[in-house]
Amino acid sequence: MENRDYLGFAEEMARGAGEILLGNYGGQQSIRYKGETNLVTEVDRRSEEYIMGRIRSAYPDHGILSEESSEVRSATPYRWIVDPLDGTTNYAHGYPCFCVSIALEMGGKLLAGAVFDPILGEMYTAAAGEGARRNGEPISVSSTEMLRRSLLATGFAYDVNTAEDDNLACFREFVFTGQAIRRDGSAALDLCYLACGRFDGFWELSLKPWDTAAGVLILVEAGGVATRLDGSGYNVHHPDILASNGKIHEQMLSVIRRVKR
Ligand code: IPD
Ligand code: CA
Ligand code: CA
Repeated sequence: MENRDYLGFAEEMARGAGEILLGNYGGQQSIRYKGETNLVTEVDRRSEEYIMGRIRSAYPDHGILSEESSEVRSATPYRWIVDPLDGTTNYAHGYPCFCVSIALEMGGKLLAGAVFDPILGEMYTAAAGEGARRNGEPISVSSTEMLRRSLLATGFAYDVNTAEDDNLACFREFVFTGQAIRRDGSAALDLCYLACGRFDGFWELSLKPWDTAAGVLILVEAGGVATRLDGSGYNVHHPDILASNGKIHEQMLSVIRRVKR
């Protein structure tokens, strides 16, 4: 099986799950709280059920790590990493910024990733070594070279009230050193927007593998860079990420270093 065949399957599932999200969008949501501000809707579960069902019937021996279920372990090195609805808070408020994110890894290496925004009808995809695309057209990161001219994005974790670092110090510093900052509420879309040049830089302190797996592959295949906040190597199991078009990476790192000193 080629990476692009897996990608085709991931894309099909992301589109199918996106239809489920759209079908219920804007209506009354049935919501359950996992924490004080961390919610899950009935639609997160329906989207997840659909995706897991499809994976189970196509690849019964593959593992699945999906946000709202316990991990399905596997004797094979293949594992699907799924966020059935990234941007749940937006979704529940009728704010049109959310997506489905699906990636496949083999022994920790990302092979394929699909992120679908059903509102704009934008499908972001990448297969390892084959570049990144939006709706089938190649995409690449921006050519912005100066932090001062850069549109940045970030997010705040659900544990912002109790976290040792609430991200406000970095946020404050980037307000003064970047051009502007957006906080859109979907880390997977933030990474795709970075991959296609809408954003120039992105950082977050406390993410999960399902938030970043597909988006990071899409970003890297689009020519972008992802590290941890201290500049060391990033993988999807690290909570913190600094991602950029590559050209402003050092400038962002030095701002973060200054803040954390
Ligand atoms: C959240 C979004 C948000 C990020 C949070 C994530 P969810 O995912 O990606 O942008 O700031 O840290 O948890 O809960 O909407 O799937
Ligand atoms: Ca998420
Ligand atoms: Ca989610």
